[in-house]
Amino acid sequence: MTEHAVPLATNQDLDPVRLRQAFGIFPSGVVAVAAQVDGVLAGLAASSFTSVSLDPPLVSFSIANTSKTWPGLRRATHLGITILADRHGGLARQLAGPPATRFDGVEVLIGPDGAVTLPDGLAQFDTTIYREVEAGDHTIVLLRLHAVQHADHSLPLVFHRSAFGLRA
Ligand SMILES: Cc1cc2nc3c(=O)[nH]c(=O)nc-3n(C[C@H](O)[C@H](O)[C@H](O)COP(=O)(O)O)c2cc1C
Repeated sequence: MTEHAVPLATNQDLDPVRLRQAFGIFPSGVVAVAAQVDGVLAGLAASSFTSVSLDPPLVSFSIANTSKTWPGLRRATHLGITILADRHGGLARQLAGPPATRFDGVEVLIGPDGAVTLPDGLAQFDTTIYREVEAGDHTIVLLRLHAVQHADHSLPLVFHRSAFGLRA
């Protein structure tokens, strides 16, 4: 192993623009988080999704504290999570756009407890909120899984360097 006694550069690298670039080097998938709340479909796209625990079965995503959708969405009895496929770049943008049209033309499945999933996705999870953890300008939402379904074996949508698909 080669050791270099060079410290990592200073706080200048922690400004939000540079930090966003650095975080973006790490690729992630994209999910739709959605539910029916008071008879209305609500949801958003999230690239912060990650698996957390097998026992109990937990996953997580982080929601910006500025989200206008989350205060209503978090009231849902159950939340649906759908892992998007590589053909879903446009859909992901739509699910991050104006809330009133996020589900326009989107085929959805509504579970008995209000979890909303997209049958065209790669995997679907029926979840409830297990815990919400304050984390700076975001909240980490831990979700407990109640049901899982996955049948589609096509490629996942990848978000990398603020765009879809891997890039050098
Ligand atoms: C690919 C992609 C990934 C996103 N990931 C997240 C995320 O992990 N957390 C988050 O709070 N917002 C994320 N967003 C933004 C939300 O989808 C949404 O636009 C944002 O929450 C603002 O809408 P709202 O005020 O209705 O919540 C992402 C958007 C895109 C296009």
